[in-house]
Amino acid sequence: MSSDRVIELLRKGYEDEIETVMNYQTNAIILDGVRAEEVKESLQEDIHEELEHSKKLGQRLKQLDARPPSSMEFTARQESLQPPSDSTNVLAVINGVLDAEEDAISTYRELITAAEEADDPVTEDIAVGILGDEEAHRTEFRGFQKEYQKD
Ligand SMILES: [Fe+2]
Ligand SMILES: [Fe+2]
Repeated sequence: MSSDRVIELLRKGYEDEIETVMNYQTNAIILDGVRAEEVKESLQEDIHEELEHSKKLGQRLKQLDARPPSSMEFTARQESLQPPSDSTNVLAVINGVLDAEEDAISTYRELITAAEEADDPVTEDIAVGILGDEEAHRTEFRGFQKEYQKD
């Protein structure tokens, strides 16, 4: 069976995914302007993937006789992903997304190592799959960042 560290990281990943869904959706709604359209569309697509990630992590927790966290135990962490006061500040949102994706990447890397040490290949496999999605999100938003930093 798996280690406490694996459970802890699965629960952290679950919380982060849910917080990501909330902030991506809020930012996708509040951004204004023609230039924001592509970023808004991309956020909407990623929301579905992040929600799917949380489901996979939650189901794995159940298989390990643990539970995913709920809102009363929730700790918000994504400070840089709070919606900017200027609703045309697309770059602020892009930078916040990149922070969230970097954070997710390091959590799943840690989970891969912890699962390997705990001889839990099923959790490791889940973490590897999600890590691949997060790296793809990062690549996409690095592209946006290049474009928006030009002006
Ligand atoms: Fe995710
Ligand atoms: Fe992501």
